[in-house]
Amino acid sequence: MAGNINRQILLKSRPEGPPGLENFELVGVPVPEPGEGEVLMRILYLSLDPYMRGRMSAAKSYAKPAAVGEPMVGGTVGEIVKSRDAKFSAGDIVVGRGGWQEYALSSGAGLRKLDPAAAPVSTALGVLGMPGMTAYVGLLEIGQPKPGETVVVAAASGAVGSVVGQIARIKGARAVGIAGGAEKCRYVADELGFDACVDHRAPDFAQKLEAACPKGIDVYFENVGGAVQHTVWPLLNDFARVPVCGLIAQYSATSAMPGPDMVSVLRKRLLLRGFIVSDFAAKQGDFLREASEWVRSGRVKYREDIVDGLERAPASFLGLLQGKNFGKMLVKVGQDPTRA
Ligand SMILES: NC(=O)c1ccc[n+]([C@@H]2O[C@H](COP(=O)([O-])OP(=O)(O)OC[C@H]3O[C@@H](n4cnc5c(N)ncnc54)[C@H](OP(=O)(O)O)[C@@H]3O)[C@@H](O)[C@H]2O)c1
Repeated sequence: MAGNINRQILLKSRPEGPPGLENFELVGVPVPEPGEGEVLMRILYLSLDPYMRGRMSAAKSYAKPAAVGEPMVGGTVGEIVKSRDAKFSAGDIVVGRGGWQEYALSSGAGLRKLDPAAAPVSTALGVLGMPGMTAYVGLLEIGQPKPGETVVVAAASGAVGSVVGQIARIKGARAVGIAGGAEKCRYVADELGFDACVDHRAPDFAQKLEAACPKGIDVYFENVGGAVQHTVWPLLNDFARVPVCGLIAQYSATSAMPGPDMVSVLRKRLLLRGFIVSDFAAKQGDFLREASEWVRSGRVKYREDIVDGLERAPASFLGLLQGKNFGKMLVKVGQDPTRA
């Protein structure tokens, strides 16, 4: 057990504005022993997600903030190394919320066993996990695309956006992605099969987006907010649906940013609905069944951006907030026994 030391990354302080490396601290503590009813997991993969910026802040939100001086919160895939819970055995691979550390205790609540033969276990944090399910419920329950309609999504090469566009295509809609840079756009159009992808950093972004959406936009899956939102808004059709999933461009803002034009919300009878994936927890079975089949058959493709070593988590997280990741951002924390 690596000298019985559990390396952890603590939230050291809360950022005002954009976070920095100084907000995190790497420490080593003894590996804990599981109590009655508990399991000890060795973390294999840690998921880095934009929502973690919100947890660093003490502002009132839908979830409790991460505690200063405690390991940062996060989804993980781990291997059970000791179990005092009859439902789990040593060697089981589980997805849960182990946080930014090498070993974690769990009461078993919220842990789900994975079948390594069904899909690489890391996918339980991405395409077959929380981000994939976010795309699935946000698009199908709120966006409700119809065949021939145009669906636009930003952060289109990322964990959520990549799945949104591919499901839109499966449902017979046109998928137009927005991504940062030519390489991401090429991947989204050529490998993921979106009908088009437009670079939001290019000077002619607005003209290119309009050209890519000749019949306007029927579903705008809101992943980023900020300047991208303002460019998309005039292209929305009457009765367009806007699942408001994420506003990553605004998470570190220290003052309110201009919101959508409410006159067009009224005139075009737009539907805007914010959601958190857990609102649709009852859909998890449907999601896992359908998405597993899409991934197995190759109808839904995915890309992972995996960095090696827990100590790289803070810098990789800061990079995610600036678009430096290319695909689902993961940290490989320990050797994955299911991969050769
Ligand atoms: N509501 C929910 O339950 C829920 C659940 C999961 C995720 N989300 C939200 O969904 C969004 C996507 O999350 P993800 O996990 O899939 O992350 P991701 O797309 O894998 O990574 C984040 C991406 O956001 C883009 N980005 C960052 N800053 C931007 C800016 N200022 N303007 C435009 N794009 C910017 C970058 O892509 P480019 O380089 O392509 O711009 C970056 O790679 C986030 O807003 C997240 O908070 C919501």
